[in-house]
Amino acid sequence: MKKRHSEIIAGLDIGTSAVRLVVGQRVEREPENVFGEMSILAAAEAPSSGMHKGTITSIEDVVSSVSACLERAERMLGVPIESVWVGISGLHIMSQPSKGVVAVSKADSEIAEEDVARAVEASRAIATPLNYEVLHVLPRSFVIDGQSSIKDPIGMTGIRLEVDSQIILGSSSQIKNLTKAVYRTGLNIEDLVLSILATAEAVVTPRQKELGVVVVNIGMSTTSLAVFEEGDILYTGILPIGSEHITNDIAIGLRTSIDIAEQVKVQYGECQSGEISKREEIDLLELGAQDHEIVKKQYVSEIIEARVEEILHKIDQELGRIKRSGLLPAGVVLTGGGAKLPGLVAAVKTNLRLPAILGYPIHTTGVADKVNDLSYATAVGLVEWGGAMINSGIARGGSMAHKKVVASATAHLRKWIKALLP
Ligand SMILES: Nc1ncnc2c1ncn2[C@@H]1O[C@H](COP(=O)(O)OP(=O)(O)OP(=O)(O)O)[C@@H](O)[C@H]1O
Ligand SMILES: [Mg+2]
Repeated sequence: MKKRHSEIIAGLDIGTSAVRLVVGQRVEREPENVFGEMSILAAAEAPSSGMHKGTITSIEDVVSSVSACLERAERMLGVPIESVWVGISGLHIMSQPSKGVVAVSKADSEIAEEDVARAVEASRAIATPLNYEVLHVLPRSFVIDGQSSIKDPIGMTGIRLEVDSQIILGSSSQIKNLTKAVYRTGLNIEDLVLSILATAEAVVTPRQKELGVVVVNIGMSTTSLAVFEEGDILYTGILPIGSEHITNDIAIGLRTSIDIAEQVKVQYGECQSGEISKREEIDLLELGAQDHEIVKKQYVSEIIEARVEEILHKIDQELGRIKRSGLLPAGVVLTGGGAKLPGLVAAVKTNLRLPAILGYPIHTTGVADKVNDLSYATAVGLVEWGGAMINSGIARGGSMAHKKVVASATAHLRKWIKALLP
């Protein structure tokens, strides 16, 4: 089988704990001419500063963190990276449903791509709150002359075309800060993508999206979730609680520093205290404490468990808001550094009453250790998202109509971003 390589796609995830940059290339397999897997060519990370809860607190610091990461990625790749798909997240993100209605333009009433684009455009025209920008207009399903639940209306016949879409908004000042920081590193921005949507692109299959699934990313300071059903996005949410809260609790519980508490969590943390023998102990001296300090592993686990249960309770509340608590057949797919905690999958199964798995990037090959890391899911997802947008239509997952209109909807934001270019 002959393989042909397409263009290079880079994804940039600026998190609270780390900046990650992944570069990939879609491998096109001939003669079938179907887009195959994404081959990951480079993956790099650098410690992050200047971010808090997905929000930029210092542009200067973000510029230096991104620059450091960029340098590492370019060294790995061997060629300069020119433009990136950038993830955006944070508590400023808002998501709301909207509707758009248009009259079908052709005399023979056959619905064309242009009608779909107009309908989606009409759904964008919701009352945007002051100082907010539309990041995504995600069409979910269409209604033709009253007949609902249509996924791909192109080629069908009708007079009135309606779309139900999900609108994702972000604060104008946050978007400006983020674009400014990225531009200052010399990188061009292909587009801004809601991080959890990109993450989902990397870790769930179209089949899981069809059945109903929630993708959960547990980061350092935030936990994001995206719920899919019937193949499309149903809900997104970002919670102001993350894995650092577990670390903080350990620091308080053991009366030790944050750095030692982080080591305790990463090296010995587990969230099923019942499974741990009462005799297992940890000596904090090994982790950098000034003296011998013996703590019970089970006690640490109880602290972790309490906080994990709180996080899971908040996720369950979010699912409750859309009446999906305990009701998603494809269950929970966990990603983010916080998902590395041993025992988390079992805790999720119990607390959310759903199947649960860890969300390692699928459809990817290449720098294996990195693409198989839960913390890289967002950056890999951005590459997948970029690839899907570039090859709108042919790419796996989502109908042609959807990909195209999503692409055209983001063109607006791109223009707006371009206007900010120095
Ligand atoms: N092995 C591990 N066990 C438990 N927690 C871990 C492990 N490895 C990393 N973490 C935690 O994961 C968190 C970092 O996750 P991640 O890198 O996904 O966050 P981020 O993207 O930088 O943050 P955010 O998405 O909130 O902006 C840290 O709080 C870290 O303590
Ligand atoms: Mg993150």
